[in-house]
Amino acid sequence: MAVTLVEGKRVVVCCGPGGVGKTSVSAAVALGLAATGARVVLVALDPTGRLAGTLGLEQLSNEPSRVSPERLASVETTVEGQLWAMTVERKQTFDDLVDGVIADPGRAHEIKSNRIYRELSCAIAGSQEFAAVARLFELERSGRFDVIVLDTPPSRSALDLLRAPGRLRAFLDSRALHAFKGRAGILGRGAARLLGVFGRLSGVELIADASTFFQLLGEITDEMGTRAVAADALLRASTTGFLLITVAEPAPVEETVWLARTLKDSALRTAGVVVNRMPGRSNLGELRRRFRPHDPILTVPDLRREVERIDDLWELHRHLFDLRGQPVLGRP
Ligand SMILES: Nc1ncnc2c1ncn2[C@@H]1O[C@H](COP(=O)(O)OP(=O)(O)OP(=O)(O)O)[C@@H](O)[C@H]1O
Ligand SMILES: [Mg+2]
Repeated sequence: MAVTLVEGKRVVVCCGPGGVGKTSVSAAVALGLAATGARVVLVALDPTGRLAGTLGLEQLSNEPSRVSPERLASVETTVEGQLWAMTVERKQTFDDLVDGVIADPGRAHEIKSNRIYRELSCAIAGSQEFAAVARLFELERSGRFDVIVLDTPPSRSALDLLRAPGRLRAFLDSRALHAFKGRAGILGRGAARLLGVFGRLSGVELIADASTFFQLLGEITDEMGTRAVAADALLRASTTGFLLITVAEPAPVEETVWLARTLKDSALRTAGVVVNRMPGRSNLGELRRRFRPHDPILTVPDLRREVERIDDLWELHRHLFDLRGQPVLGRP
């Protein structure tokens, strides 16, 4: 019987401990879904050069690049759907957000070249994760793709990702921020301390930049807040599933069990657990006991070579999707 783990999902988030094969498995999942006829985009948050190479792309950028159908075809399978791949560049994503909110291009340019904006859009805790979730939301809303497969950095960053919308909302609502916005021109002691990081600017430049920056915040906080709410809703939607990737070793299994529990406590849906690089005749009994009975477990063997060619992804795919055409992971 086919276990249709990602059936009906529009967003599949692959997460798990470091180095267990998240990137390899998410690429194989994306490939498999494309083979079922879907338009799929693989979003790799910390892409390795290896992934771009595997897909025959020079590099992954902030916009989706299409993997050529010739590249995707294996000896026995042609791919009916489409596979696209991209990454999320924080700076570019924030700039796009400004462009989307500020109608006047001259004003948008002024904001984007503002030094405080430039530094803060990269420095605020969680801004990388927020950029990723914001992008995910835009991609979903664009309707260009049937499924988005998200490859995340190791566990804890994946959790930061889930918390990013809430943290951003808390930041936007924070009293400190309102205090700053209220007195753009006259910087209080707190603001001066915050802006101490920009010590290399002269006082005059700093005040000019700060006042533009806080005006900007006033213009975009409502939109950012709306997006944070929408992004949070997207992660919680029934059409979003989390695929936990691990290997069958004690430490990563512990971490994955913890991750599964954390997802559950946050009311997020685990679609299934992939145990990668499974040694030959291992006993799954103990592993099954560690996860909740209704978290399905799939195993993928160790290929005993690097996952670096499209054929290697097809090999992983064979263990994730049923050979008789019945996808184990399901059809979107
Ligand atoms: N089933 C497999 N058989 C053999 N090698 C594998 C398998 N899966 C992954 N690998 C290898 O394991 C290494 C790590 O894989 P990958 O980059 O996919 O892991 P990751 O979880 O994304 O790592 P990171 O946490 O650093 O992002 C790579 O060298 C990859 O080729
Ligand atoms: Mg990776």
